[in-house]
Amino acid sequence: MTLSGVARVAFVGSRRIFASHLPSMQSYTPAFSRQVHNPATGEVIANVSCMGGKETKDAISSAFDAFNSWSKLTAAERSKGLRKWYDLLMAHKEELGQLITLEQGKPLKEAVGEVDYGAKFIEFYAEEAKRVYGDIIPATLPDRRIFVLKQPVGVAGAITPWNFPLAMITRKVGPALACGCTVVLKPSEFTPLSALAAAELALQAGIPPGVVNVVMGNAPDIGDALLTSPQVRKITFTGSTAVGKKLMAGAAGTVKKVSLELGGNAPCIVFDDADLNVAVNGALAAKFRNSGQTCVCANRVLVQEGIYEKFADAFSKAVKNLKVGDGFGEGVVQGPLINKAALEKVETFVEDAVSKGAKVLLGGRRHSLGMTFYEPTVLSNVKSEMLVSREEVFGPVAPLLCFKTEEEAIHMANDTNAGLAAYIFTNNLQRTWRVSEALEYGLVGVNEGLISTEVAPFGGVKQSGLGREGSKYGMDEFLEIKYVCLGDMNRK
Ligand code: SIN
Repeated sequence: MTLSGVARVAFVGSRRIFASHLPSMQSYTPAFSRQVHNPATGEVIANVSCMGGKETKDAISSAFDAFNSWSKLTAAERSKGLRKWYDLLMAHKEELGQLITLEQGKPLKEAVGEVDYGAKFIEFYAEEAKRVYGDIIPATLPDRRIFVLKQPVGVAGAITPWNFPLAMITRKVGPALACGCTVVLKPSEFTPLSALAAAELALQAGIPPGVVNVVMGNAPDIGDALLTSPQVRKITFTGSTAVGKKLMAGAAGTVKKVSLELGGNAPCIVFDDADLNVAVNGALAAKFRNSGQTCVCANRVLVQEGIYEKFADAFSKAVKNLKVGDGFGEGVVQGPLINKAALEKVETFVEDAVSKGAKVLLGGRRHSLGMTFYEPTVLSNVKSEMLVSREEVFGPVAPLLCFKTEEEAIHMANDTNAGLAAYIFTNNLQRTWRVSEALEYGLVGVNEGLISTEVAPFGGVKQSGLGREGSKYGMDEFLEIKYVCLGDMNRK
């Protein structure tokens, strides 16, 4: 299938999905539509339906109805559907990658990598579907038996971000479907096409209509409908801490299960005893993946004083080689930022740092390509009180902070409300354990800057969120535990 084929599938998908969850309508003609832009060029690449509360309620009803049959399938049957979906995602890897680059801006190689990463969640959960084990607990009375069953929580509302238009969907929908839940998915308004294409491929895989429903458009109306519906029993979200707090408060009204993957402020700690090359390459990967637009991107690079100058020099040289441009361009590794607001945020953070004494070692301004391109930037002499250290910059800016002792590094690293990912670079085994245990973070990379994988638990502590995605632990977020007490076993 060609790129235009995938785009067509996305639109056909949207019509089929609407048709499937809006039974009263033969063909759904939205009252409003919304433009989708290519962030690298500003070009309008599609118009998609702009939906609101009414369509979301219809989608919830559809998911609620489908739950009855989907949850009653055998695990093996659900597993087969998921495996087929994985196969189709992989068969369309190149085109899906092109769609991601087109609507999100990340370089094509990285976008195709995201399809691989995203599809693996579906493959993993196709396998995990068969392993939802219960328990038998030794009873406290001779005539009793105690069983523990795990059952799907029900309809899940999934709200996903633009930075991984596919992988954040599959990381939620995969375990939800594996457990027997059905889903109402709201993708980001900036990147709905990948979601529609993925949903269409789910239908083609034989996953019944109503099991995965996509609603796009007016975020507050869609969010309200999901939060207030008693039929939605679970909210799963990736995005900002501010929105996560609102969802958590909104979910309280109907006491829903909630999992939140929120913002980070990742420290990347380089100790004097680190291998310089490993540290430079690891920090580069941790910082500049997706042009700095991931929740696990290194936000602060803390460097011990003995290696500071050498690291700053080698790191700046490596950053200078990062080619910026349209994600379809040959050799491009840094795409545009998602929109003007993101660009202005990066500018404000850099201006704040420079006004308080930071030195620009490299970059520090908009890129000559215009649009939302920003130069890969390295700042030195950064202090903890600067905006760039306190909050997530979500852009291609690496602030270097100097520290003297291990205790100071741990204190600086933990001095934040966030607690998603942290990275350390050291060749000292005792230090590896000491520091890993002392860091108040959900993920720690040791001598490695890219640590996300479908087989490991992903999630934060403190205000970076609740719950875990990926791995066997990701299943727990979509399951309820039921205790069954069998009494009077000795009755004849
Ligand atoms: C995110 O930025 O939220 C996800 C990053 C990842 O999965 O590695």
